[in-house]
Amino acid sequence: MEENSCLRQAKCRAKGGAAGFKVAILGAAGGIGQPLAMLMKINPLVSVLHLYDVVNTPGVTADISHMDTGAVVRGFLGQPQLENALTGMDLVIIPAGVPRKPGMTRDDLFNINAGIVRTLCEGIAKCCPNAIVNLISNPVNSTVPIAAEVFKKAGTYDPKKLLGVTMLDVVRANTFVAEVLGLDPRDVDVPVVGGHAGVTILPLLSQVKPPCSFTQEEAEYLTNRIQNGGTEVVEQFIG
Ligand SMILES: NC(=O)c1ccc[n+]([C@@H]2O[C@H](COP(=O)([O-])OP(=O)(O)OC[C@H]3O[C@@H](n4cnc5c(N)ncnc54)[C@H](O)[C@@H]3O)[C@@H](O)[C@H]2O)c1
Repeated sequence: MEENSCLRQAKCRAKGGAAGFKVAILGAAGGIGQPLAMLMKINPLVSVLHLYDVVNTPGVTADISHMDTGAVVRGFLGQPQLENALTGMDLVIIPAGVPRKPGMTRDDLFNINAGIVRTLCEGIAKCCPNAIVNLISNPVNSTVPIAAEVFKKAGTYDPKKLLGVTMLDVVRANTFVAEVLGLDPRDVDVPVVGGHAGVTILPLLSQVKPPCSFTQEEAEYLTNRIQNGGTEVVEQFIG
């Protein structure tokens, strides 16, 4: 059966390699990685999509590759295939690692995820040193500095190309502020600065667009909810 499908694919006329960004997702089979792979496959700016994980990439790759959009999708399974997954990439997105369980802070993930991120970044420094790197793996406040140190040691560090993904805090802030104001979240813009854990998440409620004001009680409620939005989700996964 597999042989047949390979034969069929070999007869296809697709050339691939169209102009566009070459993107790798490391940790592509996980809860974040799979929907992210789908979004990248939909994105018309992406021409090549490499999906890497230590488990399940063949199935995820087959599934995503059936989508009728332009990007060519290739799967890579396990450490021996990491270098092939990374070679030639313009953008590497990393949601690899373990997520929080109820009762854990993002810092509790440090021991496991720090080692995973370090190994993956060593691969990036070797195989695609000019790539933009987006770190999703938590604790982002610590995994970004780990990646920076790996790249400094390799002589490839460019602070403009290493980013921790904290957009989730902005999305939550927009939603929660819109609820309080009775507005459509699409019309609300809340700047959030700082880090991506608890009190390091700093929503700038004085800078909200459209301009508005909050009572002390509203400001405290919103700050607390935005800072602990992730925990609000994690606590629902008990059992
Ligand atoms: N920055 C953010 O806004 C944000 C949001 C959500 C989740 N996260 C973080 O993203 C990470 C992933 O979350 P998830 O829910 O997808 O977890 P998950 O357990 O569902 O998926 C993680 C994936 O990483 C893979 N993996 C483990 N070790 C690997 C390695 N050495 N190389 C490649 N892949 C490896 C696993 O096999 C798994 O498929 C967690 O650390 C989580 O805290 C961050």
